[in-house]
Amino acid sequence: MKTFYITLSYLFLATLLFNCQPEESKKENLKENTNKMDILDKHSFSNSNEVTVKHIDLILDVDFNKKVLNGSATLSLNKKSKECKKVILDTKDLDIKTVTIGDRPTKYQLHEEIPHMGSALEIQIDKYTDAITVIYQTSPSAEALQWLSPDQTGGKKHPFLFTQSQAILARSWVPCQDSPGIRLTYDAKVTVPKELLALMSADNPQEKNEEGVYTFKMAQPIPAYLFALAVGDLEFHAIGKRTGVYSEPDIAKKAIYEFGELENMLEKAEKLYGPYQWGRYDLIVLPPSFPFGGMENPKLTFATPTILAGDRSLTSLVAHELAHSWSGNLVTNATWDDFWLNEGFTVYFEQRIMEALYGKSFSEMLALINYQNLKDELEAQNYGPDTRLKLDLDGRNPDDGVTSIAYDKGYFFLRMLEENVGRDNWDSFLKNYFEEHAFKTITTEKFVDYLNKNLLSKDTSYQKVNIKEWIYESGLPQNCPKIVSKKFEEAELLAKEFISTNKVNANTTKDWSFQQWVHFLRSMPKSVDSKQMKSLDNTFHFTQSQNSEVLFEWLMLVIENNYSPAYKKLEDFLFTVGRRKFIAPLYKAMIKNESMKKMAKKVYLKSRKNYHFVSTNTIDGYFEDAGLEI
Ligand code: BES
Ligand code: ZN
Repeated sequence: MKTFYITLSYLFLATLLFNCQPEESKKENLKENTNKMDILDKHSFSNSNEVTVKHIDLILDVDFNKKVLNGSATLSLNKKSKECKKVILDTKDLDIKTVTIGDRPTKYQLHEEIPHMGSALEIQIDKYTDAITVIYQTSPSAEALQWLSPDQTGGKKHPFLFTQSQAILARSWVPCQDSPGIRLTYDAKVTVPKELLALMSADNPQEKNEEGVYTFKMAQPIPAYLFALAVGDLEFHAIGKRTGVYSEPDIAKKAIYEFGELENMLEKAEKLYGPYQWGRYDLIVLPPSFPFGGMENPKLTFATPTILAGDRSLTSLVAHELAHSWSGNLVTNATWDDFWLNEGFTVYFEQRIMEALYGKSFSEMLALINYQNLKDELEAQNYGPDTRLKLDLDGRNPDDGVTSIAYDKGYFFLRMLEENVGRDNWDSFLKNYFEEHAFKTITTEKFVDYLNKNLLSKDTSYQKVNIKEWIYESGLPQNCPKIVSKKFEEAELLAKEFISTNKVNANTTKDWSFQQWVHFLRSMPKSVDSKQMKSLDNTFHFTQSQNSEVLFEWLMLVIENNYSPAYKKLEDFLFTVGRRKFIAPLYKAMIKNESMKKMAKKVYLKSRKNYHFVSTNTIDGYFEDAGLEI
């Protein structure tokens, strides 16, 4: 049924695209190269080869009682030809009130909803039309929006709202051409309850005002998946000249300390791959239900509070989101099939920032964790077709591509290239790549072309590099870089010692990093008896760990070994934290463990309301697969 709908939708799209345009101008389009989409994005209905939206003027009224946004979006058009008669926008669950050209209503049709994609909004225009206005209301269950009641926030007094638009959820709060290959600027005016502050992926206010009305400007063109809004009882604190952090008041102090290296990080990043192009770089720490670790919304990274470890140990996540200011936000994957170009480059860049800040022996630990994640993912997928870097997500949710393959196989591919051509050559290549593709879109094929022309053709010895195998074949090529870490060997040794003697010398672990602890826990055998679990916990106090990564590894062990003294902690963690990377594997493991199935269901039923759609969408699937009704 699904395939049928999707085929139908493409047929419908193809007919529209074809009819709307005379042969002559089609050819012309191919030559033109600004603000346009010459690659069909399977996850957007838009007829972007005929018309693109170059700017949106957004007016939003945030209604916390009804959990809706009342919106007006005026879209400025860039038509490829006067003959173009239609604009097709992406929408999902939007209640369209009117569509006007100036003051004059125009005809439109909201097509039937298609799974994952939403509904195409087809708007009639004529040769004089250069802008259209859509008046609409979002649905209380809009997938990008998470509305939190006061008790789901830190302060417990005020409600909170945040968006998550990547990959194709922007359409559930703004009618737009929701494709990563189309860039536009925006202005916005947002009205919120007077006690709250509104922030966007744009130039932001630093304090509340009396009226509760905030205006925003994003003057650089960005794709729709980077539209973002957060509304809450927020305050701002500066960190450096260009950097600062927004958060609820109760965690402000912790956040200021945790991100103390922010300005320094930004400088290191610029030194590597060229100037930061977005003006300010601020962070917002969201309530714990935020489904991701971080989201690279331009000028304002959204971050989970689970990285507030108290010792700056989890800030590689910030390096990652910052790196997206180049890879992703400046040079953007053209379609979600090319997602590795966003994430693989970003993991690579993140590693380089961490190396510059804390040295190679530190960043190699991160790389080794990435390698283990990659190995686990390859095995979980049985080395199947989704282990190729270039994906085929036709008719599927682009979320299916968000795996360690794009991130870590992408990373190791780039690292392999670096090792082959040498760091200096590689760095100057990468710097040029970011500069030449700034504010542009990139496909896998364009990248390979660029790589061949600008790097691999420079020396005959480079040409043996197995680019095609890395990109288009499943699994992991033989020449994947090998990583050794002395620090991890230490952790393995201690794990072995503990298993055979049931004792550990806690003295040797005084200076351990959290990565070593993660590795120590990962080095435990499949089954650890409850006496051993208890002695681990008594010695190292894992159940009380302030580091969310360590706590997560421990809780996985707790589930696998039915260690009941930590169940309460597990339950509390699942009730408060909504970060998918943690909670999805925990639920999966609980469902797999016969004796914990019941508890999994009980905890999920209680906690589900605290999770964003992105997380429930994944975890609902686990329960369904196991035949458990939710
Ligand atoms: N852009 C991603 C998050 C994302 C990807 C959201 C695809 C929706 C669809 C972000 O940069 C990211 O990768 N976050 C990671 C952190 C990182 C350190 C690997 C996360 O949230 O865990
Ligand atoms: Zn990322």
